[in-house]
Amino acid sequence: MRIIVEKDYQAMSKKAALMVASQITLKTDSNLGLATGATPLAMYEKLIEMYKQNEVDFSEVQSFNLDEYCGLKAEHPNSYHYYMYDNFFNKINIKKENIHIPDGSAEDFNKECRDYEESIKKERGIDLQILGIGSNGHIGFNEPAESLNVATEVVDLTEETIAANSRYFDSKEEVPKKAISMGMATILKADRIVLLASGKNKAEAIKDTVSGKISTKVPASLLQTHPEITVLLDQEAASLI
Ligand code: GLP
Repeated sequence: MRIIVEKDYQAMSKKAALMVASQITLKTDSNLGLATGATPLAMYEKLIEMYKQNEVDFSEVQSFNLDEYCGLKAEHPNSYHYYMYDNFFNKINIKKENIHIPDGSAEDFNKECRDYEESIKKERGIDLQILGIGSNGHIGFNEPAESLNVATEVVDLTEETIAANSRYFDSKEEVPKKAISMGMATILKADRIVLLASGKNKAEAIKDTVSGKISTKVPASLLQTHPEITVLLDQEAASLI
């Protein structure tokens, strides 16, 4: 596990953007695994700036998002579809047909999960996976539990995650209770992984992730088993390690 600590959120985000851009420079048709949430926002902004400066070209890149809320249509402002197009895809030259996000309005969620997993395999897996982390140690929407999902599945969100994510909704009641999420093996099969964390409220989860016992109670701790994982932090997130 490689741990990099940058002084603040902006510096961390810049480093993350450079890592994504160098991946694409090395392999123009890279498959990127992408995350949502507040953490990667500045990384996306920096990648957009780099694209505008002709420093990175997304025309052959394929993207696979980690997760999506069940029951939200793509046009819903709180869906991860909306987030990704609004914050990133609409501002770069990625091709629409190369964008993959689980469909939160699918009629048959189980089929959607199987098809999503297949679509990743069909494109020969993920080259670089970007991850955020929940304050309870979740990655994607793989919540702490006695056992974790292997492949893409429908998951029940914990109260803690519903409460944390309610800041984007008008009320806690509006937060979906279920989501489609890549499973732990889907994530761990990526060739390289970069986990991003910023702020004091992630410090405990980061401590458990990098130096705690490997446990399904802290899903991110399973990343310790990955040979090519970089944990990219700001000083606050790194304050307990
Ligand atoms: C959500 C997402 C995760 C994300 C996490 C942290 O629940 N499903 O992929 O990493 O929250 O979000 P934030 O970066 O806003 O703290």
